[in-house]
Amino acid sequence: MKVVSLYNIKGGVGKTTFAVNIAYEAAMQGLRTLLWDLDPQGSSSYILRIKPHIKGDISQLLDGKKPLARLIKGTQWPLLDVIPSDFDLRRLSSLLEAKKTQSSKLSKSMKTFGREYDLVVLDCAPEASTVSENVINFSDLIVVPIIPNPLSINTFEMLLKFADGLTGKNPGILAAFNMVDRRKHLHKQLLEKYLNRDPRFLRMYIPASSSIEQMASQRAPLETFSHRSISTTAFADLTTEILSLIT
Ligand SMILES: Nc1ncnc2c1ncn2[C@@H]1O[C@H](COP(=O)(O)OP(=O)(O)OP(=O)(O)O)[C@@H](O)[C@H]1O
Ligand SMILES: [Mg+2]
Repeated sequence: MKVVSLYNIKGGVGKTTFAVNIAYEAAMQGLRTLLWDLDPQGSSSYILRIKPHIKGDISQLLDGKKPLARLIKGTQWPLLDVIPSDFDLRRLSSLLEAKKTQSSKLSKSMKTFGREYDLVVLDCAPEASTVSENVINFSDLIVVPIIPNPLSINTFEMLLKFADGLTGKNPGILAAFNMVDRRKHLHKQLLEKYLNRDPRFLRMYIPASSSIEQMASQRAPLETFSHRSISTTAFADLTTEILSLIT
């Protein structure tokens, strides 16, 4: 089992959009995939039409003994399952801080998925919290969606420093440009500066597109309602690039 997390300290950059489409594309490519919506906002759960509610107390996520499998919901696609969000997830960081050993329990709970899934995709909240520290520790790859502008690149550098300061496993952390509009001079300039030149950036990027925006009203992964569009192909290619890095 490999864990790919969509993470950025910045909000509204495309983490949820990437998480849903990457998980969907991976499932379509034949991988048994679990999308875990770790953001109390519950946007991935909403898009995939799964009620953002976890039965019982949120502290069960840290109970290494109880397998998290009970929380898993199926989707209409046989290879794609979801652990829904819950608004109580906002308390997860303080629960983790209360007991240092809790962190290893969270990753222990995660590891029980190893037998059932080839890929776990985490949709993270926009924060630099104890949950984020855990996510960095148990991921194989962190994908950081960023909009091409200097402030977003500054935040990416900040995120790299934050991860560098942590003890434990240091996964690969790679940025992926999102909402790219090549007609904009700044976007063109930054793509030329970073793509294929800076190894911290994935080669594939996602264009700005109104069909991607429609995911929240269609409540479905992009490919299911926008066949063969440029954006759908971009997500398939990005997923292939990501999977080639972890398998
Ligand atoms: N490539 C794109 N083209 C057009 N709109 C996009 C694109 N990517 C994301 N969006 C839109 O931008 C908004 C924010 O995207 P999304 O919810 O995926 O970001 P996020 O990083 O998960 O946000 P948050 O930090 O609140 O969790 C959404 O309305 C989404 O539809
Ligand atoms: Mg989100």
